[in-house]
Amino acid sequence: MSRLPKITIDHARVVYPGARGAGPVEALGGVSCNVADGELVCIVGPSGCGKTTLLRVLADLEQLTDGRVVITDSDPARPVKAMVFQGAGIFPWMTVEQNVAYGLRLRGMPPAERIEIARRWIGEMGLDRFANAYPAQLSGGMQQRVGLARAFAYNPQVLLMDEPFGALDAQTRLILQQTLLRQWDREAKTVVFVTHSIEEALTLGDRVLVMSARPGRLIHEFRAPFARPRDAIALRSDPRFSAMFAEIWSVLRDEVERARAAELGATA
Ligand SMILES: Nc1ncnc2c1ncn2[C@@H]1O[C@H](COP(=O)(O)OP(=O)(O)OP(=O)(O)O)[C@@H](O)[C@H]1O
Ligand SMILES: [Mg+2]
Repeated sequence: MSRLPKITIDHARVVYPGARGAGPVEALGGVSCNVADGELVCIVGPSGCGKTTLLRVLADLEQLTDGRVVITDSDPARPVKAMVFQGAGIFPWMTVEQNVAYGLRLRGMPPAERIEIARRWIGEMGLDRFANAYPAQLSGGMQQRVGLARAFAYNPQVLLMDEPFGALDAQTRLILQQTLLRQWDREAKTVVFVTHSIEEALTLGDRVLVMSARPGRLIHEFRAPFARPRDAIALRSDPRFSAMFAEIWSVLRDEVERARAAELGATA
């Protein structure tokens, strides 16, 4: 695995124009960091600190007010990036197979080829029996697996994941963390993964970046010392896991309290 910077984020600042009667909102206050090729970076931070904004900037869904972001395109045969949203973001009117093949269809891949790839990923996610089902016929965890299958089938160089497991029960979440770890071990992708869960960040990430209360900045970086391949369950009994959890929480707690105080101030 090469370790070239895949993503460069240089003083990224986003100011949203205020709603009527309110001033502008500085969501990102100048974020700088690099992400290496093949690295899985997790971002934690208090609610409203600009995590989604940062991912949206990386996905070209939001414009920077200042600064720049660059994603190096190192493989013309693959799409550069794709975003996985909370709540799977799959189309209710398409079957599982059509959903998983959707990105490939957009890329103009012929039907036989894209169906083969979609089928493979549907199998990887344990959804074979549901290939022709519609999302409404699936549980939340299964829908989320469809979202993951679609992202992996699309095979982007960079995967941007915004709390993809946030709405799931704890057991399903563990299983999907295992699934992501397994897939990532098999073909390392550059992943930026936003989560509210310190455990999830430590389980998945090579690094855990902590953002400040809004305007969001990166205030701390932790390197997760766990060898790969990782097992999401076994990690939890590693003494380093609880030690790092405590360290990260001590940094995050101050920011969560600051964000809450600002919120209370704004509504008082
Ligand atoms: N389109 C928009 N227009 C105006 N303000 C916005 C817009 N999108 C987000 N904001 C504000 O920018 C700030 C950052 O929002 P963002 O969604 O990036 O936070 P977040 O860290 O993802 O929060 P959460 O953890 O709750 O998902 C918030 O104060 C939010 O209200
Ligand atoms: Mg968000």
